[in-house]
Amino acid sequence: MTRELHRHCIRISALAIFLPAALWCLPASATDPYASNNGLYPTDNEWSGPYRSLNYNYPERAENKWFTVAPRAPLTIQNAGDYVTKLKTFLEPNMRAMIDAPDTWDPAANGWYGMIWQGAGATGPNGVTDPESGQEAILGSFSGQIITQGTFQDSGLTVNLQNHTVIYYDALSATMLKKLWADPFKPNRTAVSFPEGGMVVKAAAVTPTPQQWPVVEGSAIWNVYRPTVESLQGPDYNPYTNAKAVVVPLRVLQFDIIVKDTVVSPQTGWVFVTYVYDRDAPGTTTWDKLVPLGAMWGNDPAFAREPNGTDPNGGPLQETWINQKAPAYALSSLGWGGRLSGPIDVSERHNVLLTDGSRVPVQRASSCLSCHGTAQFPFVANLYPSPNKTFPREGTLFPMYPPGSEMWAHWFQNRPGSKPQNDNDNAVALDYDMLIMFALSAYDAAAGSDLFVQEHVDVH
Ligand code: HEC
Repeated sequence: MTRELHRHCIRISALAIFLPAALWCLPASATDPYASNNGLYPTDNEWSGPYRSLNYNYPERAENKWFTVAPRAPLTIQNAGDYVTKLKTFLEPNMRAMIDAPDTWDPAANGWYGMIWQGAGATGPNGVTDPESGQEAILGSFSGQIITQGTFQDSGLTVNLQNHTVIYYDALSATMLKKLWADPFKPNRTAVSFPEGGMVVKAAAVTPTPQQWPVVEGSAIWNVYRPTVESLQGPDYNPYTNAKAVVVPLRVLQFDIIVKDTVVSPQTGWVFVTYVYDRDAPGTTTWDKLVPLGAMWGNDPAFAREPNGTDPNGGPLQETWINQKAPAYALSSLGWGGRLSGPIDVSERHNVLLTDGSRVPVQRASSCLSCHGTAQFPFVANLYPSPNKTFPREGTLFPMYPPGSEMWAHWFQNRPGSKPQNDNDNAVALDYDMLIMFALSAYDAAAGSDLFVQEHVDVH
């Protein structure tokens, strides 16, 4: 599918993931950094429920309550399960309703914050807003990419799926956003360093019904105002002429929490945790049935030069813990060598051409930390271990370094969040935060700093 895109559109469609049109299509004209959504609303007939507003009222100070109850020993594959359980319990009071009661949950009342510069949509030359861009009005969600049916056919998926995500910063992280964005037209990039104990959450819901994918049976329904997957896949789809948003019901699938903690994770300073929906788990609500998929606090660089990314002696990874009781669909989509990656994170890429000339039909090429490690200003590295900054549409040719090669291994190191992956390109590290990278790019587009705006990275 080819799309007419505005020149500031850096849609990385084929990531076929979560990568929101929102983040890559940068608004061209004067943009309100504090817009809560892209300005497109359903009619009263289509939607009678409330609209979620984002909270940009970043605080000056916040308490680190997590460390009063958090385990304080460095993470190991033995103790990570306990950490993951405690983290969910800690967040339950203000997150349960975000999952289970989306229509009434309010970010401000629960102490969660949004990212400025991300609400507004992308507008075409004709003044029309791409309904897939920005944050939509009902939940303030971003639209992700389309994941092809074959990825989860073993668990019964019969259609292509799209995910939509919401992302919130806790009060501690928001104290950093306060410094970064004190003047929204003059970002203080050197302020990007999360305070200890700071957290960000991301929750994703997907388009298939339980009839189309049995694994989502019983999961909470979220509604978003977006084009349907079917309409997006039409051959003549054009976001600025014939695209139409409708109220689309989704089912909750994945819930991520990332925590800055240099004590439990001394090398990267981060713990990345994922929970996934398990229809067979005990409990009554979707929140109850979000079970750990795993945690990751490093990239296991000791095995980054091995062709399959694992211990040649057959031992386990030491910096990823996986819950072997997680549902099969989620265990089927882990990252390179079994490193942590969630079902919507598209670790598996198809039609890969390696720089040594070999062709690989299916390659697991990613993980939470290898991908997030590319968060730098400006945007200089592919999220995957690729020589190329473009993101081909899923299924079309994707060039990559040979797994285990020296170049490939750059993505699988352990660095503190203050050290950029591409330090020879004068890049500034963004402490593993992707949304900050996109917000800075959106600001540069709005400010006309074209030099730093990532132009159109191969689109579909
Ligand atoms: C292939 C790349 C990739 C992988 C793998 C990935 N992410 Fe992300 N993540 C992103 C991008 C890009 C964003 C920006 C928002 C978006 O696109 O949804 C993001 C956003 C987030 C956010 C919001 C804060 C931020 O950094 O912007 C959290 C939390 C998050 N991801 C957690 C995880 C966890 C946990 C995993 C592994 C289970 C994971 N991610 C795997 C690319 C990735």
